[in-house]
Amino acid sequence: MFLAVLWAAAASPAVLGAPVAAAAPGARTPLVLLISFDGFRWDYDRGVDTPNLDRMAEDGVKAAYVTPPYLTITSPTHFTLLTGRYIERHGVVHNMWFDTTTTEKKPYYQTQFVNECYQGEVAMVREVEPPLYNYKNETAWRRSADTVMSWFAERRLDFVSLYFGEPDGVGHRYGPDSPQLRAMVRQVDRTVGYIRRAAERRGLTERLNIVVTADHGMSAVYRGGQAEEITLADIPGFSFADVAFHLVDFGPSGMLLPKPGRLEAVYGALKGAHPHLHVFRKEEVPERLHFAHNDRILPLVLWADAGYVINGYFPVQFNKGEHGFDNGDMDMKPFFRAVGPAFRSGLEVGPFETVHIYALMCHILGIRPEANDGHLNATRHMLVGGGPAREEEGGGGERRMKKKKKKKKKKKKKKKKKKKKKKKKKKKKKGKEGKEGKEEEDGRRRN
Ligand SMILES: *[C@@H]1O[C@H](CO)[C@@H](O)[C@H](O)[C@H]1NC(C)=O
Ligand SMILES: *[C@@H]1O[C@H](CO)[C@@H](O)[C@H](O)[C@H]1NC(C)=O
Ligand SMILES: [Zn+2]
Repeated sequence: MFLAVLWAAAASPAVLGAPVAAAAPGARTPLVLLISFDGFRWDYDRGVDTPNLDRMAEDGVKAAYVTPPYLTITSPTHFTLLTGRYIERHGVVHNMWFDTTTTEKKPYYQTQFVNECYQGEVAMVREVEPPLYNYKNETAWRRSADTVMSWFAERRLDFVSLYFGEPDGVGHRYGPDSPQLRAMVRQVDRTVGYIRRAAERRGLTERLNIVVTADHGMSAVYRGGQAEEITLADIPGFSFADVAFHLVDFGPSGMLLPKPGRLEAVYGALKGAHPHLHVFRKEEVPERLHFAHNDRILPLVLWADAGYVINGYFPVQFNKGEHGFDNGDMDMKPFFRAVGPAFRSGLEVGPFETVHIYALMCHILGIRPEANDGHLNATRHMLVGGGPAREEEGGGGERRMKKKKKKKKKKKKKKKKKKKKKKKKKKKKKGKEGKEGKEEEDGRRRN
């Protein structure tokens, strides 16, 4: 549902599952607009002219980057943004809806109307893109922005989330280092400027807090003999005959349900079979990934190192960019900007996990958050007055932000990371370019 072009929670934002005292009519309550630009990596504004994003940073808060939850794909990470829960705790473990008993799989578009309720509540207002939607259409983007502003101004909504399917599409098709990607970043930048001007025209600037972020980043895929492909069917000792259900051919991640009694055989065959393939029994997935404790996660969890994808029977993936990698990989980190009356201005902060954004939004809206894995502590320093010092309920608060004292140190670290990254990129660029992305521009698979 978060892949809807527009998704609005009510004036009583019960869709977030949070009870809230009804504001007095006419009260100047704070508003929140959460915008996700699918696949906008933290460093996409480097080397691209982005005057509107720059102005937003001057007027508000910019994070160095944010860390999405693992698995770094669209639906699971968006549900984390909106619930403050890690994927194993909210249970949307993949973009595909699946049933291991019937082996049925459904892509997201077919499933978004299956279950419209969350805890018995339905969003008051919403708009979902039609099938075969052109995700790149800037005119349509502006219309969406106008619609959202009219929802705030006329329909008196307090919270709206807005989704754009780019720059994910061009990132996949042309790669994260392509001129097409840079052109799309400029389109995102123009759109951010348009949205802020639209808010101003509607007289919303004094009340509206705009948070701009993304679900995950993007990483270049090795192509054309640069690297040995990972194809499960070619691995000695492995057979799909031992597998009852599988989710592979989705970029670098995979999950397998072996047939009864075959788990150890499948695990044994795959483990160590390729230097860039990681294979875990579900219980052994590293704790830091928070991707184990859910019945929907299949017994074997696979992922590939940066540059590689996991194929099933034979190589069928030809994208130049992919995501779904370890969320510790810098290429998987999205950007984060926020502006509005709740936020300090001209503030650059260190990284934090996107699991904390829910608590931040609840705080601004004055909603008591549902139980979640995030904590306001991670973002409180971004707020005007630093926010109240009281403990918020329902937070696990895994990560604490370092205070200013450590800022210098962090900057140094950042520089180091950047250097490392550049080296990595150079390495990646050396190889030949691969085939064109096989997906259609419109109506393609969203991931
Ligand atoms: C772009 O969107 C606008 C507004 O929805 C629509 O009128 C136009 O036909 C679209 N253009 C393309 C190329 O899809
Ligand atoms: C949040 O910050 C307060 C004040 O620094 C601290 O006492 C508290 O333990 C923190 N909570 C979490 C969960 O980190
Ligand atoms: Zn994608």
